[in-house]
Amino acid sequence: MKTIISVISEDNINDEEIKKAGEIIKAGGLVAFPTETVYGLGGDALNPESSKKIYAAKGRPSDNPLIVHIAKKEDLYKIAEDVSENAEAVMDAFWPGPLTLIFKKKSVVPYETTGGLDTVAVRFPVHKVAAEFIKASGGFVAAPSANLSGRPSPTLAKYVIQDMDGRVDMIIDGGNIPIGLESTIVDMTSDSPMILRPGFVSKEMLEEVINQVNVDPTILDSNCKERPKAPGMRYRHYAPKADMLIVRGEAGKVAAEINRLSKEKENCAVICAKEHVHMYEGMTVKNVGSLEDYDEIASNIYRVLRECDDENVSYILSESFSDKGIGAALMNRLIKAAGHNIIDV
Ligand code: TXA
Ligand code: MG
Repeated sequence: MKTIISVISEDNINDEEIKKAGEIIKAGGLVAFPTETVYGLGGDALNPESSKKIYAAKGRPSDNPLIVHIAKKEDLYKIAEDVSENAEAVMDAFWPGPLTLIFKKKSVVPYETTGGLDTVAVRFPVHKVAAEFIKASGGFVAAPSANLSGRPSPTLAKYVIQDMDGRVDMIIDGGNIPIGLESTIVDMTSDSPMILRPGFVSKEMLEEVINQVNVDPTILDSNCKERPKAPGMRYRHYAPKADMLIVRGEAGKVAAEINRLSKEKENCAVICAKEHVHMYEGMTVKNVGSLEDYDEIASNIYRVLRECDDENVSYILSESFSDKGIGAALMNRLIKAAGHNIIDV
């Protein structure tokens, strides 16, 4: 398949190109598009054949449900049932934005989209290109992250092209992605909402709006024996090609251990905070951003993992970061990328 690549930025929306993208979706095709979290791989959420194509393009198991993206809050009620007061409060506070909510689904949503579940995950992105594209597509776009299954989510169009060229009809290049980690997922189907995947909208932020928010116990505890409630969290996700180890502890000790380990490993790279770059002299260093700005670190992490792949790094040694606020999402992705390979010093 020949993939059309079209540059459309938030401050220069090209109506003709958006219309073309919408026509592709309505005809059952696939279009990769930017959102504020990561690039998505879109198809018509109400067309079972489109959802099947998404799974095929990603090489993703079809029991892993897709998120349905909308561009108007009213459209939620066409696909979801039993929208609670808690859900309304959360939507008022964070929609449009990087937050996905899970509801009981209506029958218009095919099981091909929900991976056989009776629930549907819904997100209303704030990114202007995403919003215009969803409207032009008929209002309901199913989209996982636009990476091949198991690879880090793409935060730059060049990584979407790397994974999806020839597999989708069109890729919208919307430039750099602001947040760089996938949306927070909250299950709203019970009276006690539960975070199934941490993201930019943190537990603390949600609890400013609704009383108590639980967190799926499997998220940060790598020894937890329960099954994660979001099917996608069960797979080895967000993985770079290299083996990866996270070293946790006080900065000086971490640096000493990483320096020691790097001598035993060939072709190794270090992921560290800007403030610690000087501690890794003579090594391949990936500066992921300043400890003063966790949003910056979060927005760089997938790019850095992809760079390690591009440079054929065979072993990644990473510093550990705080798990407060967006740090919870950052550490969740980092620990998954490392296949739970983490040591304390
Ligand atoms: O930020 C995002 O959410 C991005 C952009 C493109 O919007 N999308 C994204 O999709 O990260 P994906 O497919 O890579 O991750 C969706 C996650 C998976 O872990 C999936 O199992 C979970 O959402 N999920 C979807 N529907 C669900 C449902 N009904 N119940 C539980 N988990 C669900
Ligand atoms: Mg994904």
